Amino acid sequence: MENFIHDIPTKVYFGKGQISHLDEALRQFGTRVLMTYGGGSIKKTGLYDEIMKILNDGGFTVFELSGIDPNPRVESVEEGVKICRENKVDVVLAVGGGSTLDCSKAICSGYYYEGDDLWYMIKNVKGRKKSLPLVDILTISATGSDFDAGGVISNMKTNEKLGASFTYPSVSILDPTYTFTVSRYQTAAGAADIMSHIMEGYFSVTPDSELSDGLAETILKTVIKNAPIALAEPENYSARANLMHAESIACSGIPEFGKKYTGWPCHAMEHQLSAFYDITHGVGLAILTPRWMRHILKKDPSCQWRFVRFARNVWGLEGYDEAELAQKGIDALEKFFTDCGIPMTLTDLGIGTEHFEAMAAQANGGGRLSGAFVPLTEEDVVEIYKACL
Ligand code: NZQ
Ligand code: ZN
Repeated sequence: MENFIHDIPTKVYFGKGQISHLDEALRQFGTRVLMTYGGGSIKKTGLYDEIMKILNDGGFTVFELSGIDPNPRVESVEEGVKICRENKVDVVLAVGGGSTLDCSKAICSGYYYEGDDLWYMIKNVKGRKKSLPLVDILTISATGSDFDAGGVISNMKTNEKLGASFTYPSVSILDPTYTFTVSRYQTAAGAADIMSHIMEGYFSVTPDSELSDGLAETILKTVIKNAPIALAEPENYSARANLMHAESIACSGIPEFGKKYTGWPCHAMEHQLSAFYDITHGVGLAILTPRWMRHILKKDPSCQWRFVRFARNVWGLEGYDEAELAQKGIDALEKFFTDCGIPMTLTDLGIGTEHFEAMAAQANGGGRLSGAFVPLTEEDVVEIYKACL
């Protein structure tokens, strides 16, 4: 078991009606608020009005940044920093999904960045940064951005999508009822993202971080049970709540504590798909993951033990032929994604081979994939992309 540091300073209010804590969550930092949100779902669902009533009743001064795209752009970060600086904002309130939260984290850090080039900050400045306080209200279960310090920002001019560490939210309000309106497509994509956050760390060479492996398996089973229920019954509170609890813990680092870091190869490969083709993150992960699994199992059959454990403990598969079990676990995962309605090939998304080499080079930037569960070269990555066609 490896050393680890547990250092998560976020206060989480989980459950129905927890928006009642919004006033106090913001007020501890001041009364000048930048409210950030995406393309308008919060207006359609009525959440915007509910929040504005609380802010108006509380005498807060509110500035707004709307239109944050899925795969948030550096231009939105620049705009948000400008609003915060010009208006001496005390606290940022992010309302939405991972894209809004990530963009808001970058805004919070960008506020204090001494320099004009925020893309430079995102690309080059390592580690958590001095930041404005961030409060968030999450509306979709997927990324875990409500309980981690990371953010992923895109620069479509350079076809780059980069993850960076910014700041933890000070307060996250997680009310599963806000996810009732998430579409089937985004619900399925979110489920795939949660599962990927687990699988990226679960498939590790460390054999003895038992609590982490057990947490990981339970989170996977939680998603496997509840995602189909949420797809069939979007307003099933129990299913939505279990997905929200799972998403929050899955990307927090907790299910990886004590395990050797793997470099998260499927995320490295997926971020290139998003950077070049602006696709939905969870869909890219669902397409890549079973292909990556088959590739590494073939490349290095000594990793089979992990796939056997995955088949038995996650999918409940039985049998003595371990090679067969390993394959069946991967097949079960692929079938699960298909049954959730996720398009399962890159061809389905209109993606061809034209950028595979460039994407593989970026995915392996800094030799990042050499530390993966089974180390990957750029040639491996191109083969995996091809297997996804
Ligand atoms: O923009 P609006 O109108 O709000 O609509 C959004 C968007 O179209 C919609 N949506 C969200 N909540 C809704 C809703 N529609 C109806 N009802 C609701 N309650 O869903 C769409 C997707 O939203 P987005 O925020 O993009 O989704 P998600 O949470 O999956 O975030 C994806 C982004 O997060 C990054 C991804 O790469 C991607 O850029 N990630 C962030 C991570 C982190 N911070 O730790 C880790 C992840 O691995 C991931 O890379
Ligand atoms: Zn992800």
